[in-house]
Amino acid sequence: MAKTAIQDLMKWKREGHRWVCLTAYDAPTARVLASSGIPVALVGDSLGNVIMGHDSTVPVTMENMIHHTAAARRGAPELFIVGDLPFLAVQISEDEAVRNAGRLIQEGGADAVKLEGGGPRAATVKRIVEAGIPVMGHLGLTPQNATQLGGYRVQGVDAKSARQIREDAGSLEKAGAFAIVLECIPAPLAASIADEASIPIIGIGAGSDVDAQVLVFHDLVGMAGDFQPRFVRRYAEVEHQMCDAVKRFQQDVACGSFPSSNESFSAAKPADKDVSPEVSPETELSE
Ligand code: KIV
Repeated sequence: MAKTAIQDLMKWKREGHRWVCLTAYDAPTARVLASSGIPVALVGDSLGNVIMGHDSTVPVTMENMIHHTAAARRGAPELFIVGDLPFLAVQISEDEAVRNAGRLIQEGGADAVKLEGGGPRAATVKRIVEAGIPVMGHLGLTPQNATQLGGYRVQGVDAKSARQIREDAGSLEKAGAFAIVLECIPAPLAASIADEASIPIIGIGAGSDVDAQVLVFHDLVGMAGDFQPRFVRRYAEVEHQMCDAVKRFQQDVACGSFPSSNESFSAAKPADKDVSPEVSPETELSE
């Protein structure tokens, strides 16, 4: 499948074709997404919670993001990959934001970057876009400043904050963002923003009347422990299957059935008893 172009996303917006985006933090997951025909992958800073064991995204660094973006890229050279700009990557100065966005592209191999926030972030988006880097915005529940938002809770519930999110979406679009993620806001608010915007609006916990949906891959496949927010639908129980596989391996070793002779290497018969056995011609490790 050819790599998604931003023009495809704009066309899908006009045509009302809904699409999905999933997170990928490593090569095998990116490969799975590419093989499944997913048009856009996000190396989200959610990797802080999901695979690094932190309790927020705040400790995630540029180095972490570049490392994981590059891994996802190696796994799927033709996948459209968005790399997330972590906490403090864009807040200190616009110059630093452009430099960090450029690192995700040059060192991580991302096609585009995502950053959280509206208001003052619109000028930053403009600078990054002017540098030739496509930017995805992120409004509503923005985990990097969850503490300021009063925790992980639905945003835009009262009229004032709903108006702010709507205005911020307009400013990000004006600044040149090619898409905006709306996280955990009331469905009618998200629907009306999607209706007004001419760029794709990607929802997560924002109802169905938006242009696309994004989820964390580990939540979707059941690799997130007991974490099950209301906006996640699990399509598999991979963690259970992994535990089962590990337990069966342990049992097979304990009872001596692993490895079998087919899973072991034999030695060629020595031609001369003084010569030590050579490894047989079956020297390839895989079958
Ligand atoms: O970091 C992330 O994975 C995200 C998505 C949940 C939108 O920002």
